[in-house]
Amino acid sequence: MLLRLSALCVSLLLLLGLTPSVWAAEEEPETIYVYSASEEHLVRPLLDIFEKESGIHVKMTTVDRAALDSRLALEGEDTPADAVIVADVANLYPLQASGLLQPVTSDVIKQNIPQMLRQKDDLWMGVAMRSRIYFINKDKVRASALQYYEDIEDETWKDRLLVRSSTNAYNQSLLADLIYRRGEEEATKWAAGVVDAMARQPEGGDRDQLRAIATGVGDVALSNTYYFGQLLTSDDPSDRKLAKKLQPVFVKSMDGKGPHVNIRGVGMLKASDKKEAVTKFFEFLTQEEAQKFFTKHNKEYPANPNVAADPVLQAWGFEPKPQVPVEMLGELNAKAMAIFAKVGWE
Ligand SMILES: [Fe+2]
Repeated sequence: MLLRLSALCVSLLLLLGLTPSVWAAEEEPETIYVYSASEEHLVRPLLDIFEKESGIHVKMTTVDRAALDSRLALEGEDTPADAVIVADVANLYPLQASGLLQPVTSDVIKQNIPQMLRQKDDLWMGVAMRSRIYFINKDKVRASALQYYEDIEDETWKDRLLVRSSTNAYNQSLLADLIYRRGEEEATKWAAGVVDAMARQPEGGDRDQLRAIATGVGDVALSNTYYFGQLLTSDDPSDRKLAKKLQPVFVKSMDGKGPHVNIRGVGMLKASDKKEAVTKFFEFLTQEEAQKFFTKHNKEYPANPNVAADPVLQAWGFEPKPQVPVEMLGELNAKAMAIFAKVGWE
């Protein structure tokens, strides 16, 4: 009896001694912190799948992309963030230039993401693609009237184009793309042509330009493709109605190559010591489940060429092909800014 009691005590003690540490392990799973320009709830279902598969938790903080590099520079080594998810090379490149990123090298990533969409030292890479093209009001413009970006330089387009400000990353990268392909002189002519074609001074975002041409303010807009996809499938019937008046025009540049392609990308911060977990997370983002999620919910194109685009995008009959190594869009950003100033694109 005594023996059995003491055995029971030992088991109890063992239990007591062991359980707290087991609990602790369960309470504090490995967690990576991500600064993101978009809101966490938009990608939460995807993060939940990753957490279930890997046991690694992901917490996101929404950070305005314009403030991202100054915030990270200020936080330095003490930043709580392990990684960033940001749209457009013009927002990713400054992080690289400030030395804030460290490489994430992985065979899975190299298999899933084309080289053109990865920074050459693996400091960042694209996980989704978008194109920046013209959209027309079908009642006012024939699609065949615009075959090249440069067509807008013709004076027939004077006072008919809507486009947002040059402080916006998307416009900066489009101009950087044209500088790379056609040289500074031709790119300057295009930017000056855009300014001449403007129906009003730049205001609002891409969605605003699309809604405006649908309601008869201007005839042509410059916008990223996913904004059109989102309007077409919006919960708001008035947005769907407006979107039906529009048509995307997948123009070439005069170099004969297809439209500007940009990315939503990810990078790992130098200050982070969670390389294994971040690598797993990035690999997950390049695989089918995540790629399908981005194209279905955001109406972006998959960066992984083995994953099909959402049917809404497929209906446009266009497959984006990056024409410029993405890093060049960042390297040429300063030249683009100088041209904007020169031609007076506000
Ligand atoms: Fe956007």
